[in-house]
Amino acid sequence: MSIRKHPPRPWPLLVLALTLGSGVAVGCGSSEPYFRANLTEMRLRESRDEPISPELQSEISNVLLSLFGDPDAPDIFAGQGVAAEAKAPLEAFGFDLAKLQLAAGPAFSDQTGKQHGLYRLHCAHCHGVSGDGNGPTAPFLNPYPRDYRQGKYKFKSTFGDAKPTDDDLKRILKDGIPGTAMPSFVLLPDNEIDALVEYVKYLSVRGETEIRLIEYVADEGEMPEGGIAEIAGGVPLQLDDDGLPEAEPEYENVVASILYKWAAAPTRIVQPVVPTVPLNSQSSGKDAEALAASIERGRKLFFSAETKCASCHGDAALGDGETTNFDDWTKAVFQPDANMQIEAAHAAEMLALGALPVRNIRPRNLRQGIYRGGRRPIDIYRRIFSGINGSPMPAQGSEAGIAGDNVSDDEAGGSVRRQKIWDLVNYVLSLPYEPLSQPPRPVEGYDITLR
Ligand code: HEC
Ligand code: HEC
Repeated sequence: MSIRKHPPRPWPLLVLALTLGSGVAVGCGSSEPYFRANLTEMRLRESRDEPISPELQSEISNVLLSLFGDPDAPDIFAGQGVAAEAKAPLEAFGFDLAKLQLAAGPAFSDQTGKQHGLYRLHCAHCHGVSGDGNGPTAPFLNPYPRDYRQGKYKFKSTFGDAKPTDDDLKRILKDGIPGTAMPSFVLLPDNEIDALVEYVKYLSVRGETEIRLIEYVADEGEMPEGGIAEIAGGVPLQLDDDGLPEAEPEYENVVASILYKWAAAPTRIVQPVVPTVPLNSQSSGKDAEALAASIERGRKLFFSAETKCASCHGDAALGDGETTNFDDWTKAVFQPDANMQIEAAHAAEMLALGALPVRNIRPRNLRQGIYRGGRRPIDIYRRIFSGINGSPMPAQGSEAGIAGDNVSDDEAGGSVRRQKIWDLVNYVLSLPYEPLSQPPRPVEGYDITLR
């Protein structure tokens, strides 16, 4: 096999010296201050008889280096310009260099007490220096830390596969992800949170660019014709008065077409319809009756063929309905068949290339009252409306329905009328308080057989 664990890095000597030099000074979780190549992606994309050559591999890492720098110096080519762009590439891409510099590099505090190297200090031991979700702590965790390189995020306000907004990422950092190892960083000052959010986006755009380049060379046997000018072309994005991108860039402009999706995230926020029912956290007296009726409607929907919630979450909502599925990250690497079986030889090869061992994804146990994406009714509405990106949990809403009361239900489509999503929200939020010993009441058309 032609892929080496550490592809050659024909970097300028200065860069090499910098990297090695800093290796001594860095702390926990940063014994590898270089971006690991995405070896599993290469193996998955290349054909057996025509592996991606070492020359092409190093071309990819060279392009990535000149566009994104290295873990110690994201702005390595600042001032030198790239291709047709006069600005340092990351600035042209719209990144805030000062924020990236604060988050990148080895962790230390300077004489003024200012903390540097925030990402390696707080995140890398789980998410890895490269943002591949494979830091030294990762193998011990379930779920695994996010691999940012797929550009996929789960707990966000936007619909479907849209990127999270900056506010979504900030909220994740402040709240953490309850029920998982992802901690809260609420005690960090806002400027540090901002720097970390910028750095997550940077790793994500870099990782997606790498995947797109691997895809390209695997298909074409060469780098894109226009070279780095084309790959980095189309930036800065043309923005309208609201700061949103005017038009989608050419697919060949790899970085621009990835940045476009990030910039467009705010246009895809799910606005819920204004609830006509009282919500489960705030009802008393007369409201209580309306709430009880809403919960009962939600219960029926939960067990209906329309939503199939119970088929995954289980007849008692303990999360034990469908337990053999995988998340998209695992599926992408291990490629299970329709019966969720993974070929042993393929699995062994992926593990040898550094993939984390396979883990099933389980639907949430809704009796526990622990919600990874937040416990406010609007959070649960968005989870049900959009599904959970990267997981088997399906969307009940549709793209058109994100505009809340600005579109009618007929225009909105989707599998469930949006007011009914509030009934489901009320039911979900009632589950932790419903005695489990109480046998589930029958729902017409649904056969409840307790396991
Ligand atoms: C102790 C391990 C750990 C540390 C430290 C950690 N994370 Fe995480 N992080 C996780 C896990 C586990 C998940 C995945 C949770 C899931 O999929 O439900 C995650 C998920 C995420 C996500 C994805 C959220 C989404 O909606 O998909 C982001 C973004 C993130 N972490 C950023 C960070 C940043 C930035 C830091 C450092 C400031 C950090 N994490 C530190 C374990 C960690
Ligand atoms: C195909 C299987 C499947 C179906 C159908 C399904 N879910 Fe899920 N659900 C999941 C999985 C898997 C998760 C965990 C996803 C994760 O954390 O990555 C989940 C998570 C959740 C969560 C937790 C959200 C959070 O923030 O932690 C809620 C609430 C939920 N589902 C409600 C529902 C409701 C209501 C329905 C029906 C409208 C439904 N689910 C249908 C698989 C499913």
